[in-house]
Amino acid sequence: MDDATRGRPHDPAWARLWGGRFRGELDPQIAAFTTSLPVDRRLYRADILGSIAHATMLGRRGIIPAPDAERIVQGLREILGEIDAGVLPIQGAEDIHTFVEAALRARIGEPAGRLHTARSRNDQVATDLRFYLKGEIVKIVSRTIALQQVLLALAEAHPSVIIPGYTHLQRAQPVLLAHHLLAYLWMLQRDVERLRDAFVRTDVLPLGSAALAGTPHPVDRQMVAELLAFARVSENSLDATADRDFAVEFVAAAALLMVHLSRLAGEIVLWATSEFGFVELSDTISTGSSIMPQKKNPDAAELVRGKAARVLGDLTTLLAMLRGLPLAYNSDMQEDKEAVFDAIDTANASLHAMGLVLHGIRFNREVIDARLRGGFMGATEIADHLARRGLPFRQAHELAGRIVLYAQEQGKELWELSPEEYRQFSPLLDAAAAAALADAASPTGAVASKRSAGGTAPERVAEQLGAARAAIARSLSWVAAVPAAPVEREAPSPHPGPAQARPDHGA
Ligand code: ARG
Repeated sequence: MDDATRGRPHDPAWARLWGGRFRGELDPQIAAFTTSLPVDRRLYRADILGSIAHATMLGRRGIIPAPDAERIVQGLREILGEIDAGVLPIQGAEDIHTFVEAALRARIGEPAGRLHTARSRNDQVATDLRFYLKGEIVKIVSRTIALQQVLLALAEAHPSVIIPGYTHLQRAQPVLLAHHLLAYLWMLQRDVERLRDAFVRTDVLPLGSAALAGTPHPVDRQMVAELLAFARVSENSLDATADRDFAVEFVAAAALLMVHLSRLAGEIVLWATSEFGFVELSDTISTGSSIMPQKKNPDAAELVRGKAARVLGDLTTLLAMLRGLPLAYNSDMQEDKEAVFDAIDTANASLHAMGLVLHGIRFNREVIDARLRGGFMGATEIADHLARRGLPFRQAHELAGRIVLYAQEQGKELWELSPEEYRQFSPLLDAAAAAALADAASPTGAVASKRSAGGTAPERVAEQLGAARAAIARSLSWVAAVPAAPVEREAPSPHPGPAQARPDHGA
């Protein structure tokens, strides 16, 4: 056997956990088609820790001899350390569960054969995926918080910049730039809350359900849950082995997170156009064109916008895979992992890239100020002002419209009209009221007047900044309070070397 075929599905040394009832050999092409190792290899840590907890429980309950349980746990810890260190390559087996058991047998011999007592790969894979996902949810929440902090810092750094606010992508009313940036912070806050919520339903232990029906062995599922830091054990073995709701919920939360990032990215792409010109992106996050020497493209933002599509696809994959499946485990479900992993990787990479894009953004005050002219964005202000003086809003709206027309003809801004010009339009206006009207129609006046709760007035935005800081602090304490699994404490460090050397990414 040459190096290219060693450890591949057609290698006779290919490990599998069955065979007693088989006479024929598995077709190598079917072996290659059905293997999940290239994908589920990244569950190795979850799989090994799950096995350590299971073996510990089997030993303590006397289901297997205590010395065997100890050798199993010891062997598994060594295997974990060697995989972490990159010296034990993950290859030569049908899936990660088989690989770990085969590696254990090679190391400790016969006692390894007792590890799979009272367990099936069906409750094992569900446990692995839940355990792994819990850790990944915490990481994504942390990265989302980090991006919120970047938005918060940008908002704090620009407390008084006013930009045009848009509806229908037409200039509508002026708003504080900080208010606009905080809008995204609140979207991300809801994403954090949705991810935390998905965590709660992921935090349930399937192990002990065995293949589908439970097990005759006197297992202590609560003990395993405690060793792995699961909040509770599942109620129904059929449901526990066939349920992937938790994966759907996570990917749905990730898809919405990506939609939010994609809207922010899309807006940055728009703002970076010469037509808008609101922002200048730093050279470190832009790319050039191979043909047009003048180009500076907002590539990173465009790709964040585009990558949202992948996660929407991942969600569709999961829902489509699950629909119509009879209970309990079906091999279709092996397809869940690729979608979940892709959603994790895409969300992580996009959150990170978005942070870099925002770090490298510079707001172009002159262009933004120029865009506050010409749009008559104070018109609503005039109508509101007249309505507050007693004119029915409909009439006030009509009158403000005529004032806009007049200003346009005069080539003036609403805030540049004199009190006399205003007074031509309504007998309700005395000199002081007409002067106040001009002020109210200016960008600063319009922004200052929006004092309703959640409005863009500077004092409301200052309150909002306080609420945002408090929300971030709450999320950070949630992250800090997520318990580590007791089995993990004695396990080798999860980050022994440089990231590239770690075997859990990619096939
Ligand atoms: N590789 C499988 C998966 O990812 C593990 C469970 C397999 N169970 C089975 N009975 N074939 O879903």
